[in-house]
Amino acid sequence: MAPKRLYALSLVLSLAASVRGQSPQFGQCGGIGWAGPTTCVAGSVCTAQSPYYSQCLPGTATATSTGPVVTPTISPISGSKLKYAGVNIAGFDFGCGADGTCNVSGAWPPLTQYYGMDGAGQMQHFTKDDGYNVFRLPVGWQFLTNGVLGGDLNANNLVEYDNLVQACLDTGAACIIDIHNYARWNGLLAAKYASEPNIIFGVMNEPHDVPDINLWAQSVQAAVTAIRQAGATKQLILLPGNNWTSAQTFVSNGSGPALLTVKNPDGTTTGLIFDVHKYLDADNSGTNTECVTNNIDSSWAPLATWLRQNGRQAFNTETGGGNVASCVEFMCQQIAFQAQNSDVFLGYVGWAAGNFAVGYPLGETPSQSGTTWTDTLLVSSCLAPKAGAQSGSTGE
Ligand SMILES: *[C@@H]1O[C@H](CO)[C@@H](O)[C@H](O)[C@H]1NC(C)=O
Ligand SMILES: *[C@@H]1O[C@H](CO)[C@@H](O)[C@H](O)[C@H]1NC(C)=O
Ligand SMILES: *[C@@H]1O[C@H](CO)[C@@H](O)[C@H](O)[C@H]1NC(C)=O
Repeated sequence: MAPKRLYALSLVLSLAASVRGQSPQFGQCGGIGWAGPTTCVAGSVCTAQSPYYSQCLPGTATATSTGPVVTPTISPISGSKLKYAGVNIAGFDFGCGADGTCNVSGAWPPLTQYYGMDGAGQMQHFTKDDGYNVFRLPVGWQFLTNGVLGGDLNANNLVEYDNLVQACLDTGAACIIDIHNYARWNGLLAAKYASEPNIIFGVMNEPHDVPDINLWAQSVQAAVTAIRQAGATKQLILLPGNNWTSAQTFVSNGSGPALLTVKNPDGTTTGLIFDVHKYLDADNSGTNTECVTNNIDSSWAPLATWLRQNGRQAFNTETGGGNVASCVEFMCQQIAFQAQNSDVFLGYVGWAAGNFAVGYPLGETPSQSGTTWTDTLLVSSCLAPKAGAQSGSTGE
């Protein structure tokens, strides 16, 4: 549908109807297309085996306590109340279509050792020169399993992706693992990064056309449970809503109310943050160069009110616009508003640098000359913390 949505996983698969009763030990209790019971008889725990299959395995869920969730150990952004400002480092997600299919050979690691752009250098520049402190690292799950549906993680491909994750961690920033699958990898990747406080888990990128939002919330719950049970008890987890994670319709289309029910194994909601996206172009597609709105009245103000009423927070992990005057004006206003409401908004992550060529309409890829990096107009004017938009001084 849109370049920035190339990697979105479609959820048009039937998530189906009735949920009642309990599954027996070793019975199915979840998965895409599963319409039966999602709870297990006493003495067994619903455990995700793949996106398509969760099973009641012997054990007790109550034994797992999440303990206190710690805030990542990143530096605060100077001059801002927002906790995070960042950039998406794209490339591993290339080759995926909006229908959820991925051509694994289309993935292109944004690392020079794999003949990509210098994503590691970009992140060093963004942290040191611009004051950024978070990066989101999109990847298609098909890449991680090398195209095997419900398969195990592919060791070679995981090494490539982990190289980007480690390059991110090396900058001292927080790193959002943005995988487009919500079950199989939970146990495996969550275990791999369980001891990294600066890892943030994104449950899934831009779900859309979810037929039943309450069943979707149960899938998100299964992901949260699996991540916590894998030992990643202290990291933030980002919970996505329907309609491409739209901030504008997060409450009105039912995502917010449904996702309020998602809890940690200990019953708390600590560290469970709503994931919302918003572009500034006429159709919110993130494909048009010109910006027409700061989204404040339509999206951010009503969302802030709802979050406050419910004692929750959201993270705007995709936003962006062209490198033109209209976007400078509206993006600075949007960021200033988010900063003024930093009790409910954690921050924002711009779309996108990484393997996008310098000159891509919504590109945030800096151009490099020797050791000097030069930022795009929108980054240098608004998105980079050092631009000062977050002080609120350039906002409404
Ligand atoms: C997958 O991507 C590769 C590299 O971009 C291309 O050569 C190939 O034709 C693609 N395959 C399909 C089925 O689209
Ligand atoms: C999805 O969100 C966009 C704005 O972000 C809105 O225009 C559209 O109507 C929404 N669609 C649904 C089905 O809620
Ligand atoms: C959300 O949007 C979809 C698609 O337009 C619609 O079918 C559904 O009823 C909406 N849900 C709510 C709670 O508004």
